[in-house]
Amino acid sequence: MSEDYRTDPAWAALFAKPEQAQDLRWGGEHMRFKAADTVRELVTRELIEHWLVFGNLRYPQFNVSYGGDGAPPTTFTRTRVLNQHQLTGCAHADDIIEHLDRGGTLVLSNMEQYDQRVGDFCRGLANAVSGTAQTYAYLTAPDQFGSRPHRDTADVFAVQIEGTKQWTLYDLPTGGDWNRGHIDDDTQVTEKVVLEPGDALYVPAGLGHRAQAGPTGSLHLTISLGVPPVRQVIDVLTEELRAVFQRQEAFPPGQAGRAEVARDALRRLAAAVEAADPAAVADRLVRPSEWPHEARRLPW
Ligand SMILES: [Fe+2]
Repeated sequence: MSEDYRTDPAWAALFAKPEQAQDLRWGGEHMRFKAADTVRELVTRELIEHWLVFGNLRYPQFNVSYGGDGAPPTTFTRTRVLNQHQLTGCAHADDIIEHLDRGGTLVLSNMEQYDQRVGDFCRGLANAVSGTAQTYAYLTAPDQFGSRPHRDTADVFAVQIEGTKQWTLYDLPTGGDWNRGHIDDDTQVTEKVVLEPGDALYVPAGLGHRAQAGPTGSLHLTISLGVPPVRQVIDVLTEELRAVFQRQEAFPPGQAGRAEVARDALRRLAAAVEAADPAAVADRLVRPSEWPHEARRLPW
């Protein structure tokens, strides 16, 4: 964990030009920049071709959609039989290719969980921002949209790997009260940005967007960074605040007198909130994944 994420080597490793790492305004504006070669190479068409056949991927580690509408999983997965056990939802490369041929988009999710290079990269970034880092790869057929216009709750880096993609950007709501998910098609467009291979786009959380593949199709990698919502302070303090009250402490029977007891309870809660150590609260917001992230030594 570093004090300033912008000076963390894992953050700088995203950018081909170190000065651009300092230019980015988190949560403020979208920014187009050149991605470092190491980031461009994390996911390639060849790797995807390999993973689909040999990666043992099972739905929903991958998905197929048309313009953001999911295709039925039974149309791109198969059940395999292994020693009389049925493995459902296995990737079927030929069916997926047929979907892509018909204008579909293939989305791979969370490659950091099965590719160590992607995993190392994500762990570094997650530590830098004291949050989470997840990856998605979008392979979109020529001229097709990968999604409907929507807002995400995470801050996102889109790295163009093959082909081009035109990003349509909508508004960025002010304040923190907005919903993730689809937005109306007639929402005012603020900018269109075309990404070429090696280009990257920072999309702050909340900024409405959708992307359309160019005439030769598109492969892009999305790195999605999540930081804890401030309201998580409530979750962090729940146990401590519960401890303010004795387990069997109860309100009196009947409504009379309950407001007085509630007033006293709120006073005690306020005192406990006041006494909470902000540094300790901040520290507990960071929830590193317990899942192993590197090969483990076997016992003998
Ligand atoms: Fe998105």
